[in-house]
Amino acid sequence: MGRSRVRQHVNPLTDKYQQVFQMPDWSDLFADLTAPLHLDIGCARGRFILEMAQRFPERNFVGVEIREPLVDDANEIRDQLGLKNLHYVFANINTSLQVLLDSLPTETLTWITIQFPDPWFKKKHHKRRVVQPDLVDILAKHTPQKLVLFCQSDVEEVALEMREKFLEHEKFILTHDSFWLKENIFPVPTEREVATANKGEPVYRFLLHKK
Ligand SMILES: C[S@@+](CC[C@H](N)C(=O)[O-])C[C@H]1O[C@@H](n2cnc3c(N)ncnc32)[C@H](O)[C@@H]1O
Repeated sequence: MGRSRVRQHVNPLTDKYQQVFQMPDWSDLFADLTAPLHLDIGCARGRFILEMAQRFPERNFVGVEIREPLVDDANEIRDQLGLKNLHYVFANINTSLQVLLDSLPTETLTWITIQFPDPWFKKKHHKRRVVQPDLVDILAKHTPQKLVLFCQSDVEEVALEMREKFLEHEKFILTHDSFWLKENIFPVPTEREVATANKGEPVYRFLLHKK
C-alpha cells in the first residue's frame, strides 16, 4: 500500500489552492447515498475514516485533504479494500466547502470532525487555520439540524480558538457542561491522536450540536 513522501504543511492561501475544487458524482462512489454521512475535514492519510468505514458499513464517509498525494494513496487503499462507503476528496476546504456541500445529499450529513488541524503558531499565519468565520457560517447555514460536530487538538490555543469561533454562532451549542469533553466520542483515534497519547500529552476536545 502506497505511502507518498509529501510536504508536511501546505499553505492553503497560496494561488495554487485558491480555485474551487471539483467534486465527484457521489452516486458513482457510494452504494447507498441515503446512508448517514460523516465528513472528516483535514483527514491527512485518512486512516481514521478508513477504520470507521469498515466498522460502520451502514454509514458513508468523506475525507477532505489539501495534500493531493495523500488523497490519491488513500483512495487507492479504499479501492483495494473494495469499500463503497468511503471517498477522499482533494480540496482546500476553505475555498470548496460550499461546492462540496452542494454536491452531497446534505440531509444525510450527521457527523463532522475537525481533528488536530494544523496549528500555524505564528500570529501572522493564523489566517491559514482551517476554522475561519466563513467555514462556520457555511456549516451553520447548509447543514441539517442536529448535526454533530466534534473537534479536537493537542494545542490548547487552537482548540480554544475553534471552540470560540463555533460558539460565537447562535446555531452551535455545546453538548457538555464541562469546558472540554473528557473522552473522544468515536471508537477510533486519529493518527495524530495516537501520537499525542504516546507522548503522554493532553488533548482538548469539544462536541457541538446544531440547533
Ligand atoms: C495535523 S494534520 C491532522 C490529520 C488528522 N486529522 C489526524 O488527526 O491525524 C491536519 C491536516 O489538515 C490538512 N489541511 C490543512 N488545511 C487544509 C485545508 N484548508 N483544506 C483541507 N485540508 C487541510 C493538512 O494537510 C493535514 O493533513
